[in-house]
Amino acid sequence: MCGIVGVLGQGAAAPMLVDALRRLEYRGYDSAGIATLENGNLARIRAEGKLRNLAAKLLEEPLRGTIGIGHTRWATHGRPTENNAHPHATDKLAVVHNGIIENFRELREELIADGCVFVSETDTEVVAHLVTRQMRTMTDPVEAVGAVLPRLHGAFALGFIFEGQDNLLIGARRGAPLAIGYGEGEMYLGSDALALAPFTDTLTYLEEGDWVVLTRNSAEFYNEANQQVTRKKQKTQAGAFLVDKGNHRHFMAKEIHEQPEVIGHTLAHYLDMVALKVSLPFELPFDFKNINRLSISACGTAYLAGLTAKYWFERYARLPVEIDVASEFRYREAPLGKGDLSLFISQSGETADTLASLRYAKSCGQHIMSVVNVPTSTIARESSVVAATLAGPEIGVASTKAFTCQLAVLACIAIAAGRARETLSETEERRLVEELILIPGLVAEATKSESVISEIAHVLAKSRDVLYLGRGTSYPLALEGALKLKELSYIHAEGYAAGELKHGPIALIDEDMPVIVLTPKDSTFEKTVSNMQEVAARGGRIIVIGEAGTAFDAGLKAEASIDMASMASDFSAIVYAVPVQLLAYHVAFAMGKDVDQPRNLAKSVTVE
Ligand code: G6P
Repeated sequence: MCGIVGVLGQGAAAPMLVDALRRLEYRGYDSAGIATLENGNLARIRAEGKLRNLAAKLLEEPLRGTIGIGHTRWATHGRPTENNAHPHATDKLAVVHNGIIENFRELREELIADGCVFVSETDTEVVAHLVTRQMRTMTDPVEAVGAVLPRLHGAFALGFIFEGQDNLLIGARRGAPLAIGYGEGEMYLGSDALALAPFTDTLTYLEEGDWVVLTRNSAEFYNEANQQVTRKKQKTQAGAFLVDKGNHRHFMAKEIHEQPEVIGHTLAHYLDMVALKVSLPFELPFDFKNINRLSISACGTAYLAGLTAKYWFERYARLPVEIDVASEFRYREAPLGKGDLSLFISQSGETADTLASLRYAKSCGQHIMSVVNVPTSTIARESSVVAATLAGPEIGVASTKAFTCQLAVLACIAIAAGRARETLSETEERRLVEELILIPGLVAEATKSESVISEIAHVLAKSRDVLYLGRGTSYPLALEGALKLKELSYIHAEGYAAGELKHGPIALIDEDMPVIVLTPKDSTFEKTVSNMQEVAARGGRIIVIGEAGTAFDAGLKAEASIDMASMASDFSAIVYAVPVQLLAYHVAFAMGKDVDQPRNLAKSVTVE
C-alpha cells in the first residue's frame, strides 16, 4: 500500500518526511519521493527502490524548506520507475496519492485534448493536471481542489502543496485512510497514526469523503459536499503499539472500513491496470491447461471464500472444482490425481485442519497453491505457490478484510486460469478486469449504508433466528452472513441457497422470522425475487440487500432495505460482503457483545 506524509513545520521538512516514510515501510513499496517548497519554489527528489536510495540522493542534493509532502509508492498504474514515483508535480503544485482513480482514462483523454502533456504512466498525474487547470480560472488553490475532488472516482487519499504557498497543505480522503497531526506551530498529514508518531500523539482522522486545509496553526475540515465541518481530536497510542483502532470502537469496525484500501492494494498486485490484464505476481510450476480438477479446502470464512471462487473457476476457466471444509477433506480420503491442483485458503496460514489437508494433498502428488495473509506462515512455507492477500494484520477474530482480499485474489487467479485454458477471450478478460478495478470504490460506497444498517440491527438484535438467502455467488455470502451473525451475536442464523427454500426452511417462515435476501442484479435475480415472494406470502419479514427499489419493483413490502449501488454482477459478492459484515457487527454491538473477541472463538485455530 502506498504511504502519504505531509509536514508544515518550523525546521527542515525533508528529514522529518523521510523519518515518517520509514515508519510506513511496513505497508510495502517500490519507490519513494518527497517535494518541498524552497523559498516558495517547488523542489522534488524521487528514487526507485527503497528509502535508502532516496536518502542517498537527498544527501547529495538536500531539499530545503519547512513544508513538504512525501510518499512511498507501490506501483499500480505504470512500472515502479523514478518517473512514475510520487510526488507528481506541475508548475503550480505537487501531489501524493494512495489508492486508485478509477476514471483516470477518461480524465486523461479530456486533459490531453485540452493541451496537457503527461510525463508519467500514473493515474495520479491526472489529479495534478486537473487542479492546475482549475487554477487558471480559480487562483485560490483551496477552491480549485474543492472543485476538482468531485470529479475523481474511486477509493483514494491525496496530499497537496502549492508553489508560492508555504503555509498551506491540503489532504483528502475517499476510501483510503488519512489522519492529520497537531504540533507546536506545526501540522502534519499521514496515512496512519504510525507515520506521525515521532511528531505528535494528537490526531484527527478524516472521515469518509472529508478533505482538510492545513496551515501551521489551523485545520479546516470539509465534507464531501464541501460544507465546513468539525472533527474530533484524539490521542493515539500508535507510538507504543503497531496496530491501533484509529477512530473506530473495535478492530473489526476498523478492518471493515479498511477494505477499500486493502482490496485496492491487493488487486494492484495481481492486475496490470494499464493493459487491463491479470498479471500474477508469481511463476506457476504447472500449466492450468493441464489441470483436470481443482480441489479447494479451507475452514470458516476462508472456506466460504473458496466456495465463491468455485463459481468463478467453473464459469471462467471451465475447470471442475471440488471443495470441502478442511476438517472433512483431511479424513475423507478423496482420490486426488497426481499433477492436479489443490488450493488452500487461510488468513493465518496456521489452521491445523487446513494444514493437514495440504499435507494429504501433497502426499497424493498434487501441486499445492495457497492463498494466505501471513506470508511467513506454515501453510505458505509448505506450498509450491503462494498467492498473498495484502490485507495487513487482521486482529478482529471474525474475518472481514482478509475474506474480501481472498475473494479479490481468487477472482484474479480464476481469470488467469481462464486465459491459460483459452476458455476466456482477451476481451472478456479486459471486461472482468475493468469490473475488478471498480470494486474498491464500490466497497467504499457500500460502507455508507452504515447508519441504515445500524437501525436495522437494533430490530434484528431482538430476533431468535435469522435466515439468509442468496443464489450464485450470493449463496456462499448468505452462508457467510449467517456465520458472521451467529459468531458475533450468538443469534441462531442459517444461510440457504434461495432455491432450496421450498425444500425445508420455508417451514420456518412466520411473522417472527427475519429473512435477509441478497439480490444483486445477476442472471438469477428474477428467481431470487420469486423466492422473496414465497417468503412474503407466508408473512415472513424481508430485509433486502440489493439495488434501490428492488422490493418495490417486485410489488413487495420489505421490512427494510439496504440499498446498494448498481454494479456488474461478476464480482458483486466482494461488495455485498460489506453490508453483511456491518449488519453482524451492529447487531452484536447493539446487544453489547464482545465484537472483537466473541466467546469460545479463536483467531487462529491450531488444534483439530
Ligand atoms: C477461525 C476464525 C475465522 C476463520 C477461520 C479460518 O474460525 O475465527 O474467522 O475464518 O478460523 O482461519 P484461517 O486463518 O485459516 O483463515
